[in-house]
Amino acid sequence: MSTWANLGLQDSASPLMEQLIFFHDHALLILVMITVLVGYLMFMLFFNNYINRFLLHGQLIEMIWTILPAIILLFIAFPSLRLLYLLDEINEPSVTLKSIGHQWYWSYEYSDFNNVEFDSYMIPTNEIANDGFRLLDVDNRIVLPMNSQIRILVTAADVIHSWTIPALGVKVDGTPGRLNQTNFFINRPGLFYGQCSEICGANHSFMPIVIESVPVNYFIKWISSNLNS
Ligand code: CUA
Repeated sequence: MSTWANLGLQDSASPLMEQLIFFHDHALLILVMITVLVGYLMFMLFFNNYINRFLLHGQLIEMIWTILPAIILLFIAFPSLRLLYLLDEINEPSVTLKSIGHQWYWSYEYSDFNNVEFDSYMIPTNEIANDGFRLLDVDNRIVLPMNSQIRILVTAADVIHSWTIPALGVKVDGTPGRLNQTNFFINRPGLFYGQCSEICGANHSFMPIVIESVPVNYFIKWISSNLNS
């Protein structure tokens, strides 16, 4: 999760988020190079006294500074397109989790396991544990196996919500009457925090998401103890 003064992206916990960070750094580097070059040119232009009395047109330089930026944009467009298609690729998921957005909480269904289902509410500030995170912890966490392909189906019961986990590189809108799909692969154990990111009403800020990533045998224990109850 994000902590104090973390202005950049969170550490990745999935291969897709790793790729997103690589792409961000790549695009930022190109942006910095353009800003420095244009800044330098403008500085030199404003602070000198040279005048060309015979300048009317410059066909060659116009050609260069039209085509060159177009080529630079291709270096952003192609990696961006590659990532876009990579994010939508589904690779034989072993678990499917359905998340339904409500005003203002999430509910979850494990459709593969006798439809285990539960609601997940934020823990109010006056009930939070000493080691809990205010406005971010929930009463019922999602438990998911690490090192497995996981499919997420997102929908909503009332208005548009958005199921967003920064560390996993996942952000999918939950829209009433529609079922959106995404997938991820968690490559380490731990707790991963997220929040709704569509403005969905008065308590939009108070419907966090917590994923508990555990080894596969722990997940099987957890899901079978929920099947029996
Ligand atoms: Cu649900 Cu914002």
